Parts: sequence; structure tokens; C-alpha cells
Amino acid sequence: MNRRYFLASSSAIAILPLPTFSGQTRLHLKAEAVTQQILPLGDGTTSMLGFNGSMPGPELRLRRGQHVQIDVENGLDKGTAVHWHGIRLENRMDGVPMVTQDLIEPADIKAYTFVPPDSGTYWYHSHYTSHEQVARGMMGALIIEDDVPPDVDHDITVLISDWLMQKDGTLTDEFTDMHSLAHDGYMGNYARAFLSQRQVKQGDRVRFRLINAATNRVFSTVVSGVSGSVVALDGMALAKPHALTELVLAPAQRADLIVDIISPVGFDMVTRQGPYRLADLAVSGTNTDRKTGPIPALALPNLPLPDEPTQHLTLTMMGGAMGGRHEGDNIWAFNNISDLQSEPFGSFKIGETVRITLANDTSFPHGIHLHGHHFYEVDEEGVLGNLRDTTLVNARESRDIICVFDNPGRWLLHCHMLSHAFGGMRTWVNVA
Ligand code: C2O
Ligand code: CU
Repeated sequence: MNRRYFLASSSAIAILPLPTFSGQTRLHLKAEAVTQQILPLGDGTTSMLGFNGSMPGPELRLRRGQHVQIDVENGLDKGTAVHWHGIRLENRMDGVPMVTQDLIEPADIKAYTFVPPDSGTYWYHSHYTSHEQVARGMMGALIIEDDVPPDVDHDITVLISDWLMQKDGTLTDEFTDMHSLAHDGYMGNYARAFLSQRQVKQGDRVRFRLINAATNRVFSTVVSGVSGSVVALDGMALAKPHALTELVLAPAQRADLIVDIISPVGFDMVTRQGPYRLADLAVSGTNTDRKTGPIPALALPNLPLPDEPTQHLTLTMMGGAMGGRHEGDNIWAFNNISDLQSEPFGSFKIGETVRITLANDTSFPHGIHLHGHHFYEVDEEGVLGNLRDTTLVNARESRDIICVFDNPGRWLLHCHMLSHAFGGMRTWVNVA
């Protein structure tokens, strides 16, 4: 991996102001080609895709319960669609071409409307040929603000991704390279985090919202210069915040931290060759007004509590290199089936509690994402753990999840290593 360090001053995430339009907020996102300084200043720029002239796209900030209309304009020369990852919204607004909507053709506009039911950290990204469109940059943060925000001095988004680039900043466009598809997927040789703010004071209390927006890379991240807790995962407040140590985020997973600033802050990816700097946050001055004390917990989300499960299904991840499957388009499978079929993997009644065993029978980790719902990770003793929308299942391991399927519609269930999804690791469930 390229060891050059990101300069925190080179660019930041723009925040889109919120115009209000007759009781509902109306936003405009234009998918388009952009040129960005991804490599350190002085190195080449990168031609990629983004929204409203930037990559990542603007950070969208909404309030819980706020009715929003987001007009997505397609300024690309190919079709697209935008998925609002982790938001429990109406099925027809989920942004999945051929399942919940038609493609947004070039020069067309689609209005997405929804009312976010939960506060927390989410993100949006292309859901059409996403192994390529997300790798090219079609991503942005989507923040649903708390009813009563925690007492912090700053609220900073940290969007992490990686890119496979040549030395001059040109993206390598081998998005469907068969070797990487059958292994860990299209993986960057340069990684960095984009921060929505560049400077804090010593003694500040800060909320960080980490988002792994990479297509395939699992980021093990260490944050230095701070002391504090993990307070939410995948948008959902933790019942028991826990001390911040090394954070492992699969593609699409998020973590919210509340920390006190001790010294200049570094975000490092843990690699076999040692730490790799993703971003720096400068410290200037001292906050003498801050009252210290225990890290506050966030308000708990209001999701239906599970009943005794009425179905127990098993989803076995299969394929990949060393997986005994034939090479070709359908390198990956669930239960021996690649890609979306006309029959769903599961059919659930609205409100039904279901247990699903996610069994990884491959030599690679997979981050399994369910649309339209959050689910509980379950430990070996059967105890309900954290609420998540994406769960990381390591090679040859398995994990049970329990979900209350209360959101009607056809919902995707797929690996969020987007190369694996492209290689066939996608299915769907029907809730009716
Ligand atoms: Cu983040 Cu099916 O997507
Ligand atoms: Cu996978």
C-alpha cells in the first residue's frame, strides 16, 4: 500500500444547507463527473464520479421525523440510482434498480421522499453497478440529527475509503478483474479519511462519526490523541457504550465515538506493515470551559422488540477462490444460488421475528447487509447484542441475527463487499 500521508488541509466535506419547502425539506443531488485532489496536494488529481461537484458528495443533515425530498439528477452518461444506506424507509424509495425502481437514465431526475425514523449516522451511495460507481466515488454522509444532541463541542464526520490509483492519480478501472473478484475484491492502494472539520481545541469533547465507504476493504482503525467511548454502531445508539479501542468496520459499517481531545488526533488504519495514516486533526488552543465527566450515552432507538422467532433460516456464503466453485460470472453464492432470483430467500409476515444463521463457508470475510431494517447480532449464548444493518462474518465463522421484519416490501440481502455482490452474493427477502 502507498504510504504517503494525507494532508488534512487539502479538502473537507462540504455540508449542504437545508432549504425548506412548504413543510418539507427539498434537496438536490446531481450525480456527475468530478476532479478531486485525493492524493496529497502537489500530486495528481483524480477524475472520478461524485455529487454536486465533489467527492464525497455533500453531507446531508436532516432531523429525525423530518419529511425530505431529495431530487437526484443524473448527470452521468450511464444510468444510476441512489440508496440511503441504513434508513428504514418506504420500499419504493430504497434506490435498488430492477427491484424497487427503474434506473434513473442520463439527464433524468428522480425524487426520493422519506421521513427518517431514527437519528444516527448513515450514508448514501450509488446502487447501480455499485462495484464500479461507488469505487469511482458516488458516496456521501447522511446524518440524522438527535432530538436532543449530546453535549459535545464538535460533531465531525470521518468518511473513509480507498482507491486503486496510478502514481499520477488516475483511477485504475479494473473493477471486474476476475482475480480480485474471487478474492477480497477490488481493493485500493491508497486510503484516506475525509473530515468535515479540520481543527479542534485540546480539552474539547467531540463526536466522531466514522463511515467505511470503501467498496471492499475492512478497516481496522485506531484513533490516537483521544480518550472516550463508542456510543453507536450503524446509526443505532448502544445500550452499553464501551471504551474505544481498535475499531473494525466492514464496508458500509459506521461507528459513532464521543471522545475528549488530549493531543493532536490521528486516524490510523492497522496494517501488517504498521499504522497507515488516514487523516490528521490539528489541535490549536485549549478549551477551558468544558466540564469533563462521564461520556454521555445517546438516546436509545425506538425499534420493535423481537418476539420468539417463528422461522429460523440459514444463509450459507459460498464460492470465491479456494471455494470449489467454477470461475466465471457467478463466483459467489448464497445457498448455492448466485444473483437475484424470482423466488426470495425468505418470505415473512409484517412484524414477524426471524432468526437467520449467517454461515461463512468461504476463505474470505463478508459484510452482510440487509435493506430496510436493522437486526440484532446474537452471541453464542443467544443473547441479543448490537443493532446493526451490516454484520461482518469472518472466514469459516458464522453469526446468528434476529430481525423483526416490520417494513413491507422486497428488500435486498447482500454482501457489502461490492465486488462479491457483483460476483453473485445477492439475494432478497419479501415482507408482506
Ligand atoms: Cu449500502 Cu445494498 O447497500
Ligand atoms: Cu463478500
